[in-house]
Amino acid sequence: MINFKSVHKDQELTLIEEMAHVIWHEHYTPIIGAEQVVYMLKKFQTADAMSAQISKGYHYFLILNDKKPVGYLSFEKRKDALFLSKIYLLKSERGKGFGRKAMLFVEARAKENDCSKVSLTVNKHNLNSIKAYESAGFVNTGAVVQDIGMGFVMDDYHMEKFV
Ligand SMILES: CC(C)(COP(=O)(O)OP(=O)(O)OC[C@H]1O[C@@H](n2cnc3c(N)ncnc32)[C@H](O)[C@@H]1OP(=O)(O)O)[C@@H](O)C(=O)NCCC(=O)NCCS
Repeated sequence: MINFKSVHKDQELTLIEEMAHVIWHEHYTPIIGAEQVVYMLKKFQTADAMSAQISKGYHYFLILNDKKPVGYLSFEKRKDALFLSKIYLLKSERGKGFGRKAMLFVEARAKENDCSKVSLTVNKHNLNSIKAYESAGFVNTGAVVQDIGMGFVMDDYHMEKFV
């Protein structure tokens, strides 16, 4: 049974930091290269960085399967859209329908927050995730390239789903 636990405590943010380290190195190294993975983990996914994001309005949730952490997600309200900033499952836990349940959870939070859609960005070469989003009803609305410093960019598609 999948549950979502709102995360505020340092201890749980440290758990997410550890999961992010495992997932991002495994999943993103072939897509963006090891150097950018290290840079982005330090910039966005340390417990301190996430704590600062939470204080600016981001929400982080652990994804639990029968109380066992299997991944995490994060979102923030941006005007009429709930922006799904992160959704990550451990490799062993993908393809079992957990991602779909997590997306439904986020869509419910969007409705609760009077948002008409869920939006997200996904790396152009993150093909399996793009397929998962499309099969969940998200539509590609175009390319977005964001400079994240030190010569790195996020070369993404923007996707959205009306809820
Ligand atoms: C993206 C992610 C969250 C999706 O979660 P998941 O549990 O693997 O996906 P699900 O098993 O719930 O599948 C959801 C739907 O997508 C489809 N899908 C998933 N992966 C697919 C693939 N590689 N090809 C085609 N369809 C796929 C499933 O068939 C399912 O469709 P259905 O409900 O119509 O049957 C997960 O795979 C993940 O963490 N990936 C690595 C990290 C990542 O890239 N995160 C996104 C960052 S933007």
